[in-house]
Amino acid sequence: MSHEPPSASPVPPSPVIEGMLRRRTTNGPFRPDRVSREHQHALMRVAQAAPSHFNSQPWRFVLIENPQTIARVAELAGQSMTELIEAGLFFQRYRRYFRFSQAEMEEKRDGIHIDHLPGPLRPFTRQVFSDAGLRLMRQLGVPKKLGEDNRKLVSGSPLLLAALLDKEEYRPGELSGFYSVFGLGAAIENIWNAVGELGMGIQFVSTPAEIPRHWAEIQTLLAVPQTLELMALYRLGYLPADQSRPTIDWSSRHRKRLEQFVYRETCAVPETDAFPQTSGHAQP
Ligand SMILES: Cc1cc2nc3c(=O)[nH]c(=O)nc-3n(C[C@H](O)[C@H](O)[C@H](O)COP(=O)(O)O)c2cc1C
Repeated sequence: MSHEPPSASPVPPSPVIEGMLRRRTTNGPFRPDRVSREHQHALMRVAQAAPSHFNSQPWRFVLIENPQTIARVAELAGQSMTELIEAGLFFQRYRRYFRFSQAEMEEKRDGIHIDHLPGPLRPFTRQVFSDAGLRLMRQLGVPKKLGEDNRKLVSGSPLLLAALLDKEEYRPGELSGFYSVFGLGAAIENIWNAVGELGMGIQFVSTPAEIPRHWAEIQTLLAVPQTLELMALYRLGYLPADQSRPTIDWSSRHRKRLEQFVYRETCAVPETDAFPQTSGHAQP
């Protein structure tokens, strides 16, 4: 499938803006080569260029290259994915984000379009979130297959990045809790924008955080002290020339039209889109 990328929007020609519009999530494998120290440190420099409340710089990062640690995190990620899907939890929690047709996607322009299910499930695309669909998926071994896919993607990544927050600042319920999450988001976005320039890709490894005992094991593996909160995990590496789509493509380039998310003066007046986007940009 090929669509116009969002960069087709009329923005001034600028490498920074074009780079931001090209930013994307990598769902496929990376090359096995180690990420150079220079590139790792360049990513840390752009991360700390992000804004933070009172310049508090509440973010902390762990760069992880140890193959044993990566292999164990990969096992935990795969196991978490299998457990979440097997128990139906994944679809219960996230069904509202899935779109089953191009028409539905064109209307909402958010969420993930399921257009790439594993072969045997394809005829049942619309039923995957029903009890019957779940039973079928279990029978076909889909939870194990998705878990194994995830394990392989993580274990084949030369670099993992853990993002943490200083608990002096990260106080959920207080304004500084919100501010520090906001600052960490800005730091991560800088990394996300920079990886493409270095020939690299990045993907969130979120499943272990959904299963408390697996998340706790990762904190132990990384020796996270009481003073820090482990917030997120990413896998990174250099991109191969040929990027094939995974069994289920979790990322989407579709974006809402201006009138679906921007207002003029008050929330009562949607902004109109002078340059409507005709379509999204799917994974290559
Ligand atoms: C808070 C957050 C959590 C995410 N979790 C995952 C994830 O678990 N797995 C994944 O592959 N992508 C994850 N993503 C990436 C989104 O799926 C992705 O940004 C979105 O589909 C748009 O695709 P794009 O990044 O390629 O533009 C996450 C992004 C954010 C900001």
